[in-house]
Amino acid sequence: MLNWLFDTKKNKDVSLDRIGIDIHSHLIPGIDDGVETVEEAVAMASKMQALGFSHIVTTPHIMWDCYKNTPEIILSGLQNVRQGAAEAGLTIKIDAAAEYFIDEHFNELLVTGQQFLTLPGNRLLVELPYSTPLMNTAETLFSIIKNGYQPVLAHPERYTYFYSDPSVYKKLADQGCELQVNILSLTGYYGENITKMAEWLLRNNLITFLGTDAHKIQHLDMIQKSNKNNWISKYPFQNEKLINI
Ligand SMILES: [Fe+2]
Repeated sequence: MLNWLFDTKKNKDVSLDRIGIDIHSHLIPGIDDGVETVEEAVAMASKMQALGFSHIVTTPHIMWDCYKNTPEIILSGLQNVRQGAAEAGLTIKIDAAAEYFIDEHFNELLVTGQQFLTLPGNRLLVELPYSTPLMNTAETLFSIIKNGYQPVLAHPERYTYFYSDPSVYKKLADQGCELQVNILSLTGYYGENITKMAEWLLRNNLITFLGTDAHKIQHLDMIQKSNKNNWISKYPFQNEKLINI
């Protein structure tokens, strides 16, 4: 398993400079289940710079049952992180969007035409529940597109209820939804089944973007420890299309 991922003979650190931009992380302190302090956020940004990233668009949860975040809250936290990063002499660019959980609040924002925080290219990062499938996923994705946004589904490999019929992933992609795999899934962090599905999605050209989904520095340590020289050359992803737009 994972021969393409871990090359213990060479034992090199991973360089993620080919990915360039990370579009999924939780680096705004104290507003979700990610970092708690500016110092932690700066340490993670520093590590991401060392791993080869040049740009972070961090994505706090907006999940109305747990994390009632708004663009104002997120952008205010972003200023603190940027200031800390500047004081630490980091050169990595740091922006913020959000990871929107599809719930009633999200649908309300969509229906009332509220401001969304987006990834480059007017892309909206959305996540689904882990345990139970939504009844109206397709309709919601269609409404997102109708409202002028490009949906990007976070970590499709983690929705195990799709495993009984993986053709659903192709249907989502055909409907215009871009899929983002977590690099952490490829390290085995969430278990073997999720790793296998992440690999399957990549092999089948269903993945548009890779993202770290880093919540804490240990997640980056895990990514660093696994040697990924092989998978970077083996599997297609298109993070580069987010640069300079
Ligand atoms: Fe996330």
